[in-house]
Amino acid sequence: MKTLIKNGRIITAADNYIGDILIENGTVKAIGRDMAIQVDELIDATNMLVFPGGIDPHVHLEMPFMGTFSSDSYETGTRAALFGGTTTVIDFILQKQGNSLRAAFDEWSGRATGNAVGDYSFHMAVTHYNESTKGEIKEMIAEGITSFKTFMAYKGALMIDDRQMIGLMDEVKQQGGLVTVHATNGDMIDYLVQKHRSEGKSSPLYHYLSQPEVTEAEASERFVDMTNYTGCPGYIVHLTCEGALNAVRNATRRNQKVFVETCIQYLLLDASLYEQDFDGAKWVMSPPLREKKDQTTLWAGINQGLVQVVGTDHCPFKWEQKLLGKDDFSKIPNGHPAIEHRMELLYSEGVATGKISLNKYVEVTSTNAAKIFGMFPKKGTIAVDSDADIIIFDPTEKHTISVKSHHMNTDYSAYEGWEVTGKVKSVLLRGKVAIENNECRVEKGYGQFVKREKVKGFI
Ligand code: URP
Ligand code: ZN
Ligand code: ZN
Repeated sequence: MKTLIKNGRIITAADNYIGDILIENGTVKAIGRDMAIQVDELIDATNMLVFPGGIDPHVHLEMPFMGTFSSDSYETGTRAALFGGTTTVIDFILQKQGNSLRAAFDEWSGRATGNAVGDYSFHMAVTHYNESTKGEIKEMIAEGITSFKTFMAYKGALMIDDRQMIGLMDEVKQQGGLVTVHATNGDMIDYLVQKHRSEGKSSPLYHYLSQPEVTEAEASERFVDMTNYTGCPGYIVHLTCEGALNAVRNATRRNQKVFVETCIQYLLLDASLYEQDFDGAKWVMSPPLREKKDQTTLWAGINQGLVQVVGTDHCPFKWEQKLLGKDDFSKIPNGHPAIEHRMELLYSEGVATGKISLNKYVEVTSTNAAKIFGMFPKKGTIAVDSDADIIIFDPTEKHTISVKSHHMNTDYSAYEGWEVTGKVKSVLLRGKVAIENNECRVEKGYGQFVKREKVKGFI
């Protein structure tokens, strides 16, 4: 099967030029100009931007969490991702405390295999580190799971203490992996949650007030100090605020291997959304939305190269699930739906407004994640021999985000009514047209598990 994409403006993390892309058997065979070749499928990309498929390294599909499950399955979640130009996602396996990593791996693989529409990989969340977990780190890396997630929060559920963290970092470093972290101080948050509840404060606003900036800044600093001490490469997920980014800025002075991900919501939305009644539950997530000054810090961090990745932390719930916390903010399932909108929102609010360049856009939506997580150059770029994961993007088409037109399995949109400039027109995944004319052309089961390589600790 041969496909030719003609005359598009090809944008990678480094390039910006008009050219043709020849695809054969799922990978890029050649890139050139005015190619005249007999092919099975010809795609005219005149006036279009051509990007590498997006990689979202932070999603939660069918995740058991806070007494329920996130509402997108591997099928609905990866399909929605494809509609928005994200061809690969990295989901989180959660070890059950006291059980093995292998058991969790089998459980998650069982849910994803044969169901995913787009490509996927897993991080392994270590929620209980002991001698037997230690023995499994090497095994997981051999399976292609080279990043290990930790939670410094969710006390009593997912949180590990610093002793476990240090032990894990030491082993992961030796085996060639990376430790990622949800960096907020679980004890401080637990104290504030109990305080607010005992004062009868139950609305979503108190979710926000229970996780002030200091809780994230403190934990981020502690995490980077622990990675410095152990020499283990680190990655902070969903970093939201100035205080936390300052901790990373200090670490870079030591030439540390610490990478930072923020998420699209922290760049675009702010905490004023909690100042309404229960509707604010749509944006109850951890960490919570922050202030306008933090958005400025994060945009600057992207341009300064301190923030390498923009993900989503897609963790969708239906409204009836959010209602579990109607009378108690601490019971509102944490997370919001965004997997479908990251690429278009970041283009519209970042590139079209002149905040970031086209090359930076590709870096933070695709290339850096591929490099950090051991998938480059198979994923994350458009180059000879890379997987032909490609977006054909119209930079001028305007449209409006709505629950009426999205493909995620939620009955509200966290971005309802947002007017966006730029639209994903077609998406190819491993050479096959997956999205075209607002329709998905690949079936569930087309998505493949991406076995990742050992981590280099640089990009
Ligand atoms: O609110 C969030 N972020 N939900 C998903 C779990 C996590 O902390 O990433
Ligand atoms: Zn988290
Ligand atoms: Zn998350």
